Amino acid sequence: MSSSSSPTSNRILLGITGGVAAYKAAELARLLIQDGMSVQAVMTHSACQFIGPTTLQALTGKLVFTDMWQTNDASSMAHINLSREVDAILVAPASADFIAKLANGLADDLLSTLCLARDCPLMIAPAMNRQMWENPATQRNLMMLQQDGVKMLGPASGEQACGETGMGRMLEADELAQAIRAMSQPKLLQSQRVLITAGPTFEAIDAVRGMTNTSSGKMGYALAHAALDAGAEVTLVSGPVCLKPPVAVKCIRVVSARAMMAAVKKEAPQADIFISVAAVADYRVVSTSKQKIKKTEDNLTLVLTPNPDILKYVANMRKAPFCVGFAAETENLEKNAESKRRNKKLPLLVANKAQDAIGSDESALILLDDEGKKHLAKAPKIDQARHIINHIALLYKK
Ligand code: C5P
Repeated sequence: MSSSSSPTSNRILLGITGGVAAYKAAELARLLIQDGMSVQAVMTHSACQFIGPTTLQALTGKLVFTDMWQTNDASSMAHINLSREVDAILVAPASADFIAKLANGLADDLLSTLCLARDCPLMIAPAMNRQMWENPATQRNLMMLQQDGVKMLGPASGEQACGETGMGRMLEADELAQAIRAMSQPKLLQSQRVLITAGPTFEAIDAVRGMTNTSSGKMGYALAHAALDAGAEVTLVSGPVCLKPPVAVKCIRVVSARAMMAAVKKEAPQADIFISVAAVADYRVVSTSKQKIKKTEDNLTLVLTPNPDILKYVANMRKAPFCVGFAAETENLEKNAESKRRNKKLPLLVANKAQDAIGSDESALILLDDEGKKHLAKAPKIDQARHIINHIALLYKK
């Protein structure tokens, strides 16, 4: 059984067992399908007490199997066929009872039979009350499963449905989807240390006002995901945005350009690759007022001074990492971007039209390097991020 290898394709059997966290499986199915995967749901009888198969059927567009003896499968061999037609099985949530069954090779219902009669990797996302988690029997079962090559996703610690707090909470749907996504990506940057800046910076004018650039941070965060999926160790220095960084990323939150610079200065010497996506404010006010400036009928003059150029600083370091810049331009995109690339001495610069890309979930890009340019047609930012990571890996290895 090749249970310790990683899935490389897109057909997932989503097994759902009985637990309050079963509701998260519906969202997980939706996210996996959104990622282009095909999802076949199989539910235990207990799972059906928590969430209806109809929900999963509607989300996956496939008949949901709940019973070994279900007669609507033409071959009537569902217990074997279903696991042969997928690239990986993910059981989420995996209850303490189901984990015990798996560990001991029991096969007394459809899902446990499928897990036993499989030739693909098996992943489980445990979900249970903290005492059940801590019980030596559960820990013993989990150890046995890990020895058998079963991959564990989570659990997390936190507030539980029973009102207690502790270990045993199932990972969130987006965290599980991210783990599945990561496993199916080629490890082009295995163990490389990637430092990314993302989002805008905010430069205070007074206690309540400030200047900033329009930037959602979506591209920088997508790159953090893509780099992580490619096997990199990722540090993200993020300006103020409303996005959640991937769990496995070291995220340093900053506000101003100078704070971003300080964080980058500290992290850059350890980085192999630096991807500067942040829309850093070019200027800040010379003197920030601690108090709110009173409104009057007169003009207000602010004296601005240039902010440090973070990318330029890193690109000029004695042992500079491989540096990638971004340029959002409103006109003469290619010309302006290429002169920026030369000016900052970058091996790679990613250019996009400011009007099209800012805040959007999609973008059209041009990759500019020493060998020329490559156009990437409009696509979701996560797909573009994967293209950029592939391109970086190619140039970096040269
Ligand atoms: O703002 P500009 O168009 O020059 O940005 C080009 C690149 O330089 C981007 O990658 C941006 O993150 C980086 N930059 C920086 N520090 C600045 C200004 C820009 O790192 N102060």
